[in-house]
Amino acid sequence: MRRVPDEPASVVVLVSGSGTNLQALIEACRDPAFGARIVAVGADRDDIEGLARAERAGIPTFTLKVGDFETREEWDAALAGAVAAWDPELVVLAGFMKLVGPVFLGLYGGRVVNTHPALSPSFPGMHGPEEALAYGVKVTGATLFVVDPGVDTGPIVAQTSVPVEDYDTVETLHERIKVAERAMLVETVGRMAREGFTVEGRRVRFNA
Ligand code: GAR
Repeated sequence: MRRVPDEPASVVVLVSGSGTNLQALIEACRDPAFGARIVAVGADRDDIEGLARAERAGIPTFTLKVGDFETREEWDAALAGAVAAWDPELVVLAGFMKLVGPVFLGLYGGRVVNTHPALSPSFPGMHGPEEALAYGVKVTGATLFVVDPGVDTGPIVAQTSVPVEDYDTVETLHERIKVAERAMLVETVGRMAREGFTVEGRRVRFNA
């Protein structure tokens, strides 16, 4: 990860939904010692609370909907361009429900992280909490990983675990995961920004 010395790391966050992970990052960035600054928030849909949270915090936003493009490849290239306009050092996918494509990863590969509500490599995809509950695991959690072309397969930066309770529903379990996930995301993005990180094969290490 390229770092500009003595400056907070510039971060673009991409969201698709309620944006509670984004909110946790916005609040963390208010402390200059955190070491990161959110320069823009992007989304793949309109009218979501994630964008409203950014606007309330005075952070510029952009929206690029897949359906507005002829092909998925064109959307991917446009998304890469919209992010590149902010020249971020790190891109955080925080509840972004689209797979980024080859143009995006060509520009930002190695410095895009995504948070997933399961303990990778278990339960990749869109239904992590539901599949963990259906499988009957007693411990699940969240994973922050460096995005690669696969579905939730990239090198793991951090994980946090939570218990599955006997009478959990998908909603109660996902809420418990999200509390732990937000703490993990804030702590880990802060370390990535302050210390930098190196990816070697599947191993991710902080530089300090
Ligand atoms: C988070 O739990 C995130 O891990 C999940 O969506 C939620 C977004 O919450 N992402 C995925 O499932 C991606 N496959 P938020 O919008 O309140 O931050």
